[in-house]
Amino acid sequence: MMQRTHIIGLPIFWFCFVLGYVEGLAFYTEKPSYIESCRIQEPDFTNCSTRSIQGFLNEVIKGIPEIEESFGPIDPMKQDQLTFTQADRDVAIISTNLTNLEIRGFGKMVVKESRVNKTDFSWMDRIYIPRMRMDGNYKMIGHILLVPLRGSGRMFMELDDLEIQMTAKTRLYEKGGYTFYNVTEAKAKLEISRLKVNFENLFNGSNKQLERDTNQFFNDHWQEFFEAMRPLIVETVERTLLDLLKKMFNVMPANFFVEDIPTSLLLYGRKTRLIA
Ligand SMILES: *[C@@H]1O[C@H](CO)[C@@H](O)[C@H](O)[C@H]1NC(C)=O
Ligand SMILES: *[C@@H]1O[C@H](CO)[C@@H](O)[C@H](O)[C@H]1NC(C)=O
Ligand SMILES: *[C@@H]1O[C@H](CO)[C@@H](O)[C@H](O)[C@H]1NC(C)=O
Ligand SMILES: *[C@@H]1O[C@H](CO)[C@@H](O)[C@H](O)[C@H]1NC(C)=O
Ligand SMILES: *[C@@H]1O[C@H](CO)[C@@H](O)[C@H](O)[C@H]1NC(C)=O
Repeated sequence: MMQRTHIIGLPIFWFCFVLGYVEGLAFYTEKPSYIESCRIQEPDFTNCSTRSIQGFLNEVIKGIPEIEESFGPIDPMKQDQLTFTQADRDVAIISTNLTNLEIRGFGKMVVKESRVNKTDFSWMDRIYIPRMRMDGNYKMIGHILLVPLRGSGRMFMELDDLEIQMTAKTRLYEKGGYTFYNVTEAKAKLEISRLKVNFENLFNGSNKQLERDTNQFFNDHWQEFFEAMRPLIVETVERTLLDLLKKMFNVMPANFFVEDIPTSLLLYGRKTRLIA
């Protein structure tokens, strides 16, 4: 084990580099002042935890090198590829591939509520994003709202007032004498207040007027369009949140957020016999 000082702004934090990992795996061994510690057994826990997570998130958005190194900037954020197929005869029969995606808006994420389950340390969070925008290349075959589609080109989609209800599964583990969260799954339910969309080169560019009319139609019927695209949008949000949370909690011990968190041995040890 090696230690070195690392400067982020003014305070100096100690990082611990565990040798043996392929990538230099750095994590905090001292609690930064922007994280408020909470006790899960106290009545005010959820309020405290909400402030604590938001405090951490604000720093992550400003830029924590260890997270940016492996994740890239939070806003805009890049996603390589999303492949998506759905067959719902009423709204859409569609196969869409989105590539070179750029997602904007997660830098304005507001954590409205952050609940932690005392039994399994899963999370239930309410998150608000004022506007999320996806830009990328699309390739698409199918129907949306009975409009037959076949084309590829640039697209964007803009979602206003995203209200996300996220549930996340975690698995506690120990690292360097601390307990960490391994975020293993993020599921999201979401609602929006407005959607704007544009696909360039619909119908393979063969009919510009029809392309304009179709985009207009989608925007005029944005609620139906949103329902048709909901699984794709939900998947994008879930994947983005999971990536982000995994990286965030990989560098920051869970002890700093939940002072009275049990060790993984204490939490799962007793249950081993039940599981086996
Ligand atoms: C948590 O905060 C809300 C509003 O901010 C307040 O109404 C509520 O009483 C607080 N809960 C506790 C347990 O302090
Ligand atoms: C907490 O997790 C346990 C075990 O997974 C579950 O039975 C319980 O319903 C959860 N509690 C809440 C408040 O969601
Ligand atoms: C999307 O990609 C998948 C796998 O790469 C492929 O099977 C599918 O046909 C593609 N869909 C479109 C519309 O190009
Ligand atoms: C976290 O969980 C995933 C499975 O969901 C596993 O592959 C990975 O090794 C775990 N990481 C740690 C540090 O335990
Ligand atoms: C789209 O246009 C390209 C060339 O511009 C052509 O090779 C391709 O077959 C066309 N695809 C469709 C589905 O019309």
